[in-house]
Amino acid sequence: MMTKTDRDATVKPLAMSSVSKNSPRYVVGRPGILNQQRFLERVQDILNSGWHTNDGPMVQELESFAAARFDVRNCISVANATLGLELVLQCLRLPRQSKVIVPSFTFVASAHSIVRSDLQLVFCDVDERGLVDCDEIDRLIDDETSAIMAVNIYGLACDTERLEYIAKRNRLALVFDSAHGIGVRTQFGPLGGHGNAEVFSLHATKIISGFEGGLITTNSQDLANALRLARNFGFSGYDCVASIGTNAKLSEIHAAMALTNFEELDKAIAHNATIFATYLEAVKTPARLISPLANESSNYQYVAVKCPAQSRERILEHLLQNGIFARRYFYPGVHRMEPYGARLEKLPQTDLLCEQILCLPTGQDISIADAEYIAKVFNSGLEQTF
Ligand SMILES: Cc1ncc(COP(=O)(O)O)c(C=O)c1O
Repeated sequence: MMTKTDRDATVKPLAMSSVSKNSPRYVVGRPGILNQQRFLERVQDILNSGWHTNDGPMVQELESFAAARFDVRNCISVANATLGLELVLQCLRLPRQSKVIVPSFTFVASAHSIVRSDLQLVFCDVDERGLVDCDEIDRLIDDETSAIMAVNIYGLACDTERLEYIAKRNRLALVFDSAHGIGVRTQFGPLGGHGNAEVFSLHATKIISGFEGGLITTNSQDLANALRLARNFGFSGYDCVASIGTNAKLSEIHAAMALTNFEELDKAIAHNATIFATYLEAVKTPARLISPLANESSNYQYVAVKCPAQSRERILEHLLQNGIFARRYFYPGVHRMEPYGARLEKLPQTDLLCEQILCLPTGQDISIADAEYIAKVFNSGLEQTF
């Protein structure tokens, strides 16, 4: 049995100082904007209108634009995806301290949102691409389980159909953390209308930046109504508070940024696809990109490369020495982080991926020539380890 100390001993933190010392020119997750002029016009409109927040016209336009793109009945904007996940879990009214199954191979916010909603989390393992392993989920469900939180990472999609079947058969709520998922399509259509709700991030590092922000999508009118109240302190009118809520509203400036970028989504995906194709061709084996399936259409927001575990740290360092800040995303796995480190789940595939993955820079300010250069440096780092 693995103890907390065993787990901690294997974590290799990356010192911030080593990143700033090498002042990287290429960084994973640098924000971009495709139509700055349009954004500035919208900012001017906001200033002219004097309506800065509280469900203003920009927020409403963003929500209807996004609902149409997600092909879903309701889209509710929030201040960030983390709060979006918390509000969904809380508005679903799951029994206190019931269990929610979630992968550990995710950003820590997925797990925090469960614990902060007075629920117990149970970590499940993932498949070779880092997406929830449905057989594992089936195995972990017991009488105390109330929900599954599946995570659509890297611009890829979980097996949404099978997850919906499992959730229905076991009468469980199903929430998708689709923080990376704007613009992703499965064979059944765009992400957005699956499970009870999906939550997308508009953080500056995502394909649609709102500086900060999040979008919740749901086909349930009741859930949407509860979420709209909950993001605004529970206010149902000027003086009437109908439920417990918080302040999770998106401001008009954030909505303007998100809407402007959303209008350019197809261009952003097309650019990312070209960069992905460049890396796919240039990165040498045994390293390998995690790729979408044939029936899946990615937004290519992340270029996640599986490296041989014994080479990954050397490649990371070599890239940094050459001005490239790649990320071990995700690392070290939420189950190895301090607040969760005493847990006993065995997650072999998660542990393996956490030792192998490096995400390479992509996005609007990376050109094909940049990607070729980064791949060349990557390959030379890889060669040094053989
Ligand atoms: C998988 C995942 N879930 C949730 C979040 C949290 O999103 P936000 O920063 O909008 O709160 C992130 C952010 O990177 C993420 O990667």
